[in-house]
Amino acid sequence: MNYSNSAIFPLITLALLVLFSLPWPATSASSSSVQNFLHCIANKSAPLLESVYTPTNPSFNLVLRSLIRNRRFLTPQTPKPAAIVAPTSVQHVQATVVCARDNGVQIRIRSGGHDYEGLSYRSNVTFVILDMFNLRMIKVFVGKEVAYVQAGATLGELYYKIANASNVHAFPSGVCTGLGTGGHFSGGGYGTLMRKYGLSVDNIVDAQVVDANGNILTRATMGEDLFWAIRGGGGASFAVIVAWKIKLVRVPEKVTVFNVPFTLEQGATDVAFKWQLVAPKLHEDLFIRLQPSVANGTILVNVVGFFLGESERLVPMLTQSFPELNLTKSDCKEMSWLESILNWANFPPGTPVEALLNRTQGARDYSKNKSDYVKSVISREGIETIWKLLTELANTTSAKVIVQWNPYGGKMGEIPASSTPFPHRFGNLFLVQYIVFWSEGGLNVTDRNVERVRYMYDQMAPFVSKSPREAFLNYRDNDIGSTASDGTNFREAQVYGSKYFRDNFPRLTKVKAMVDPLNFFKNEQSIPPKLK
Ligand SMILES: Cc1cc2nc3c(=O)[nH]c(=O)nc-3n(C[C@H](O)[C@H](O)[C@H](O)COP(=O)(O)OP(=O)(O)OC[C@H]3O[C@@H](n4cnc5c(N)ncnc54)[C@H](O)[C@@H]3O)c2cc1C
Ligand SMILES: *[C@@H]1O[C@H](CO)[C@@H](O)[C@H](O)[C@H]1NC(C)=O
Ligand SMILES: *[C@@H]1O[C@H](CO)[C@@H](O)[C@H](O)[C@H]1NC(C)=O
Ligand SMILES: *[C@@H]1O[C@H](CO)[C@@H](O)[C@H](O)[C@H]1NC(C)=O
Ligand SMILES: *[C@@H]1O[C@H](CO)[C@@H](O)[C@H](O)[C@H]1NC(C)=O
Ligand SMILES: *[C@@H]1O[C@H](CO)[C@@H](O)[C@H](O)[C@H]1NC(C)=O
Ligand SMILES: *[C@@H]1O[C@H](CO)[C@@H](O)[C@H](O)[C@H]1NC(C)=O
Ligand SMILES: *[C@@H]1O[C@H](CO)[C@@H](O)[C@H](O)[C@H]1NC(C)=O
Ligand SMILES: *[C@@H]1O[C@H](CO)[C@@H](O)[C@H](O)[C@H]1NC(C)=O
Ligand SMILES: *[C@@H]1O[C@H](CO)[C@@H](O)[C@H](O)[C@H]1NC(C)=O
Repeated sequence: MNYSNSAIFPLITLALLVLFSLPWPATSASSSSVQNFLHCIANKSAPLLESVYTPTNPSFNLVLRSLIRNRRFLTPQTPKPAAIVAPTSVQHVQATVVCARDNGVQIRIRSGGHDYEGLSYRSNVTFVILDMFNLRMIKVFVGKEVAYVQAGATLGELYYKIANASNVHAFPSGVCTGLGTGGHFSGGGYGTLMRKYGLSVDNIVDAQVVDANGNILTRATMGEDLFWAIRGGGGASFAVIVAWKIKLVRVPEKVTVFNVPFTLEQGATDVAFKWQLVAPKLHEDLFIRLQPSVANGTILVNVVGFFLGESERLVPMLTQSFPELNLTKSDCKEMSWLESILNWANFPPGTPVEALLNRTQGARDYSKNKSDYVKSVISREGIETIWKLLTELANTTSAKVIVQWNPYGGKMGEIPASSTPFPHRFGNLFLVQYIVFWSEGGLNVTDRNVERVRYMYDQMAPFVSKSPREAFLNYRDNDIGSTASDGTNFREAQVYGSKYFRDNFPRLTKVKAMVDPLNFFKNEQSIPPKLK
């Protein structure tokens, strides 16, 4: 099928332009390069003035905070931007890029604001946020089984719009409904449909971006190298993603979910051991996440399932392949795919699907997460060691500690590791996420809890991938290597680059050298241009 589309991207970028301008408030705090930047965008695109927030603007703090999800980066010590620019058209994005480049101002691009290290809204050098929240149009074409979605749209909005147009279509991306498509898709993007359809990046057919020269490009004009790089290499190193064209996938009218808890007494260790053997090999219609945590001083393992079909087919499948689960029909809930989204995102039962359109989420907790890949089965003794580690951790912090094991296999094992920059395909049993979160702050508490999750990560080394110890870009972790905000050290970049991208890292640096040789798009973990 040929989805020729270059005509449609301008269509979805049409936005309300307010045709008057305001004088600039004096911002003595900003450096002169920021002043020049602000004058430049005022001159280039007068209507953009309406969408610029400087620290003297009464809405500045509200706009800044509204997309900060992690309270660790909502402290007086967190560096603030010199301005926030929130374009309402692709021309505004162009003006922002060109004026920032010409005046030597660093930009940080923010879509949903969920970056684990806050790199979309904090930097140690003077910077401006290019905030995409006004660019969130979504158009679904069920007949062609495609949709266009702008970078600032959330997954909740996208899921709602797809389901509103069809009850048998979906898109494979994340579980958390507040994620922005700009950051989430360009970093990989996985969810419950991963074993059936792969990642978000495996289902993207075109994109509209603004490059470091301020040009608007689509797949045909950017070329296959850049189009490859932005599907898993992180948008922030290459261009501003303005919109994606995505291929919808088919789902049945009814799907099934379950969530069965096991305590140690109920056989949690056997269930976890067997899960490793079974979950990555199950039918690709099934995605079963294992979620060990500590509750009431003991281990609790939640087995959280998603099935593309009805319980009548599911229960016999699991009775045969995973009898330790003892899954019965009464453990299962059948619902539409959209309702399963609410269920997996932990909305209370009965929440109306319109809740997916609510963008007011705020930051409830402080947290620090890390990731790992497991390639060989962990022995029963190994699992018991992990349980001990979890209880030890829970005993020594005020934080809640949760681990998520996400099974690979299915479609994930069939897609070649070089087809996108995301390299963690065949040979992986599961992705591990370590989650530590707490709600009482203070720098000492933060230091202590962050130290604890690092300790857990160190202790896990025997059980996970080695040379390199792989990590998932969307679970960004500055501990695995980073460079200064204001430049990129190639040797450092090779450290995190090989963990996130393995053998795809060299190609990413070549694409970078081609499209952004002066390294305009950069952050603490960006891709440096290949050294000559
Ligand atoms: C609660 C929660 C649940 C999550 N669940 C999942 C999950 O189920 N599956 C999964 O795969 N991941 C998950 N993640 C991780 C998530 O995918 C990443 O944090 C992702 O980067 C978020 O994208 P964003 O646009 O919301 O974040 P942002 O913080 O806005 O951006 C993240 C990165 O992308 C860059 N970026 C953002 N927009 C653009 C753009 N338009 N153009 C170029 N670069 C851009 C930013 O500069 C930054 O480097 C979860 C994160 C959280 C906090
Ligand atoms: C806008 O551009 C014009 C012409 O280049 C220039 O004379 C003027 O000083 C600029 N104004 C601002 C506010 O930068
Ligand atoms: C860690 O993951 C949890 C669960 O997905 C999430 O709620 C939390 O915000 C994440 N932490 C960070 C630092 O974003
Ligand atoms: C800024 O520098 C401080 C101190 O070196 C460091 O802790 C912090 O992580 C840096 N911030 C970013 C966004 O890199
Ligand atoms: C689609 O959305 C409209 C308005 O939001 C609503 O009235 C309608 O019931 C929805 N249709 C379906 C099939 O969900
Ligand atoms: C912990 O114990 C309390 C009191 O017995 C109980 O109410 C609660 O449900 C338990 N929590 C979990 C997660 O089992
Ligand atoms: C299986 O589940 C049923 C119903 O929930 C329960 O009665 C039975 O004890 C369970 N069997 C095992 C071996 O856990
Ligand atoms: C949106 O969600 C927030 C946080 O859960 C809640 O406080 C608010 O009431 C919700 N808004 C609407 C319109 O439902
Ligand atoms: C954690 O604390 C509980 C009691 O609160 C104790 O029984 C257990 O031995 C401790 N575990 C570790 C690993 O410290
Ligand atoms: C934080 O830790 C430092 C040194 O470890 C200590 O001096 C200080 O009192 C602590 N502050 C609080 C609020 O606990």
